[in-house]
Amino acid sequence: MTQDELKRQVGQAAVEYVLAHTGAGVVLGVGTGSTVNCFIDAMAPHRDRFQGAVSSSLASTQRLEHHGFTVIDPNAVTSVPVYVDGADEIDPRGNMVKGGGGALTREKILASLADVFVCIADASKRVPVLGGFPLPIEVVPMARALIERRVRALGGMPTLRANPDGTAFVTDNGHQILDVRGLTVGDPLAFEQQVNAWPGVLTMGVFALQRADMGLFATATGIETVRF
Ligand code: A5P
Repeated sequence: MTQDELKRQVGQAAVEYVLAHTGAGVVLGVGTGSTVNCFIDAMAPHRDRFQGAVSSSLASTQRLEHHGFTVIDPNAVTSVPVYVDGADEIDPRGNMVKGGGGALTREKILASLADVFVCIADASKRVPVLGGFPLPIEVVPMARALIERRVRALGGMPTLRANPDGTAFVTDNGHQILDVRGLTVGDPLAFEQQVNAWPGVLTMGVFALQRADMGLFATATGIETVRF
């Protein structure tokens, strides 16, 4: 089975989970990435069952609107029953690294509005310890060099994320991303709090405070459901 087929399979599984665990008229929380795109596409026939969706990126908003969903300002909701999003890595406790697509800040905001965070991924994203995937940190551009020095002092190797044409990648919020290699995240919660406290860090890509409540993982033999 190809990775695309696994993503489609888990996107469909997430649709079935959401339909079984929410009532009509709720607001759906929608993440970002290629796996979430499969979820959005598979959810499209059911859009009228929802009041609308809150979206974690301009890309997901465009896809949702293309399918006829109403996209709602997160300021207008106090909570969403379920938030469905992917991950770059997820550990056995549901801690994640996210932000490979650059949407980590809005993803963390929506995760904190959610009653239940459902992580959808192919099973290759499951790791014993976070840190193999370069850790994204969204930074205010004027603080980039300061944060690079602090990352290096911890033993990390930061790289400014670039577009294919070589220009600096700019997030939906107008900031830049440092991708940090070489750090093993032994204590995700402590590390998230440490880096988040640095001036100029908007969001760092460890999701421990907003870790997943459950995971749907696509394998060659079917979907594994894990409660964290
Ligand atoms: C987006 O910023 C990320 O957090 C994604 O959720 C993550 O990169 C997973 O993306 P894929 O589903 O494309 O692997």
